[in-house]
Amino acid sequence: MHGERFGRMGFILASAGSAIGLGNIWKFPYMTGENGGGAFVVIYLLTITFIGLSLFLAEVVMGRLSRSDAVSAFEVLAPSHANLWKYSGFMIFTGMLILAFYTIVIGWIFKYIYISTFALPSSVKEAGASFGGMVTTETIPQIFFFTLAFALTFWIVSKGVKKGIEKVNVILMPLLIIILLVLFAYAMSLDGFSKAVTFLFSPDFSKVQSTSILAAVGHAFFTLSLGMGTIMAYAASMPKHENIVKASFMVAFLDTAVALTAGIVIFTFIFHFGAEPSQGPGLVFISLPPLFYQLGLMGNIISVLFFTALAFAGITSAVSIVEPTVMYMTNRFKMSRKKALITLGSIVYVFGILALMSNIETLKGYATFFGKGFFDILDFTSSSILLPLGGMVIAIFVGFVIDRTRLYGLLKPFMNDMLFKLWYFSIKYITPIGVFIVMVNKLFF
Ligand code: TRP
Repeated sequence: MHGERFGRMGFILASAGSAIGLGNIWKFPYMTGENGGGAFVVIYLLTITFIGLSLFLAEVVMGRLSRSDAVSAFEVLAPSHANLWKYSGFMIFTGMLILAFYTIVIGWIFKYIYISTFALPSSVKEAGASFGGMVTTETIPQIFFFTLAFALTFWIVSKGVKKGIEKVNVILMPLLIIILLVLFAYAMSLDGFSKAVTFLFSPDFSKVQSTSILAAVGHAFFTLSLGMGTIMAYAASMPKHENIVKASFMVAFLDTAVALTAGIVIFTFIFHFGAEPSQGPGLVFISLPPLFYQLGLMGNIISVLFFTALAFAGITSAVSIVEPTVMYMTNRFKMSRKKALITLGSIVYVFGILALMSNIETLKGYATFFGKGFFDILDFTSSSILLPLGGMVIAIFVGFVIDRTRLYGLLKPFMNDMLFKLWYFSIKYITPIGVFIVMVNKLFF
């Protein structure tokens, strides 16, 4: 069983810290840009409400009822066939895959904080060449920044739930919000602001394709850190009397608010300088820096703030990807926290180096398997297969295996019957079916 508990607000802060990550500031804006703006935002908000929130609550319920890691949770809570259900615990391995590429991206962000201070590129062309050059040719610098991000993440987790994870979140999350608000205030003074707001909030449904809907569902999932036992692990450390329904709403709300704020800030710059909103994953690394450049010294300051916020968001999320696996290893194998971290860390580090090499032109050959680079393999296997699969298993388990009266007993003090029925219906039918459709489509079409 799990010992250490969060303090007041610890769960909300840490879960918000987990949810708010690269997904909100890097991925959400470029996805919105690619999918035509407002209509995508509407679909995203609907999926967060109807699928994301239900699943979030389901993970919290599993953590709270079992007070244990993702493998034991299934064992403890299954009335029969516990030995079979424990295999659902595969999800704790998903973390190793995500972590390897996630820390590489945090490494890139570290480098961009450094670039922002004096070496912003002056044109999009130059920015593209410099970003592409970093990813495909700079082995040693990338390893350096990756190692930095990696070491920082593991060091924080090694300090424990309260002294490490909670403390970092208590400091970094408010700082992240302050930086975003400063950037938002500055954006308000620019001409692009109203265009950005129109772009994000006046939906034009003629621009929506079926792929946008799939992308929105998949992202709702990723952005709330669902499908691999992260929220479950944090909920296991929740203090006894915390209002779990309110906490879940809070986290989903904060996560959405940050994504929308980041979106407005980024698109204000894009429209202010007449740049293209639909340019894919390079949006913050390639299109923003040359725009900041045009603002002179002010641009350097804004750029440092922006990438620092991104780094903070990334680190608190990376930490949350480590914790469920460490919790499992210490529970199961009675390992010390240190030993668990060293074991897990070694695997992640090797994966990370391989993933990094797979993007380097001259080293590709050593890290390509089945014709695909290791970086892409990690991203694809985790985001398109393991996370949705984990989410589906959780929804089915909570919807059909755990006794309804048990769920009702836990949730009744915090929600009325109507809301409970709505949630129960969603977790039984809407969530698993929705996730299934997305997964099949991503895999086969
Ligand atoms: N939610 C984070 C983001 O938006 C990423 C993340 C952290 C995550 N922990 C996770 C994703 C667990 C899936 C599962 O960047």
